[in-house]
Amino acid sequence: MSSILITGANRGIGLEFTAQYAAAGWRVLAACRDPSETGDLRRIAEAAGGAVSLHRLEVTDPQSIRRLADELSSQPVDLLLNNAGVAGREAANFGQTPAKPWLDTLAVNVVAPMHMAEAFLPHVQRSERRIIATISSRMGSVGENDQGGSYAYRSSKAAVNAVAKNLSVEMKNKGITVVVLHPGWVRTDMGGPEAPVSPEESVTGLKGVLDKVTLADTGKFLNYDGTEIPW
Ligand SMILES: NC(=O)c1ccc[n+]([C@@H]2O[C@H](COP(=O)([O-])OP(=O)(O)OC[C@H]3O[C@@H](n4cnc5c(N)ncnc54)[C@H](OP(=O)(O)O)[C@@H]3O)[C@@H](O)[C@H]2O)c1
Repeated sequence: MSSILITGANRGIGLEFTAQYAAAGWRVLAACRDPSETGDLRRIAEAAGGAVSLHRLEVTDPQSIRRLADELSSQPVDLLLNNAGVAGREAANFGQTPAKPWLDTLAVNVVAPMHMAEAFLPHVQRSERRIIATISSRMGSVGENDQGGSYAYRSSKAAVNAVAKNLSVEMKNKGITVVVLHPGWVRTDMGGPEAPVSPEESVTGLKGVLDKVTLADTGKFLNYDGTEIPW
C-alpha cells in the first residue's frame, strides 16, 4: 500500500488531499497542529477504517518534526506532501512589511518544507514512489509577476521554489523526485470565497499530476493541470 504524509491536513487543500488519497486506497499520515480539534479530518479518518492516521505536527518546531519522524521510523513515505502554508497578510504591502510576520511566513512556507525533507528523507528513500512535493504558488513565480504586492507571500513561495529546485538536484541520484505545485486559486480559508477553483477540482488535478510524475520530472514547477510554470 502506498503512503502519503500530508502537512496541514486539517483544513483546506490538505483536508481534501487526505480525503482523495484515502479514497484511492492509500495509507494517509495526516499531520496537523491539533488533531483533537479537527472534526472534518476525524470524520474522514473514521470513515477510512484505519487507513488514515492523525499526527500532531507544528511545522515550525524542529522538535515536533523530529518526534513525528521518530514515531513513523518504520513507515515508508511514498509521497511527502508539504502543504501547510500561511498567507503572510501582515507583511504584504509596500510600507507595511514588519519583520516579525514576514519572518514567520518564511518559517512556515520555506524553512519547514526543508526541515521536513531532511527529517523524512529515510522514510521517502525506503518507499517505492519516492516523491517530495511542495504546494507552492504561482505567486512565487518571479517570471510571471506583473501585479506586485504580497511581499512576504511572494518572497516565501519564490524561496521555497529555489529550495525545492536545489533539493531536486541533490536528491536525483537517490532516485527521489522533487516537484513544486501550484493548486490554482482555491476556495479555502486562504483563497477566500471568490476563488474560482474548488478544493475538490484542485486536488483532483494535483493528484493526477502526482500520479504521473517520475524522476524525469524532478525539479519542475507544475500547475494543477499539469502544465509547467516559469520560475
Ligand atoms: N488557496 C489558494 O488559493 C492557494 C493558492 C496557491 C497556493 N496555495 C497554497 O496551498 C497550501 C494550502 O493552502 P490552503 O488554501 O489550504 O490554506 P488554509 O485553508 O489557510 O490552510 C492552511 C493549512 O496550513 C496549516 N498550517 C499553517 N501554519 C502551520 C504550522 N505552523 N504548522 C502546521 N500546520 C500549519 C494550517 O493549520 P491550522 O489549521 O492549525 O492553522 C492549515 O491546515 C498553502 O501552502 C498555500 O500557500 C493556496
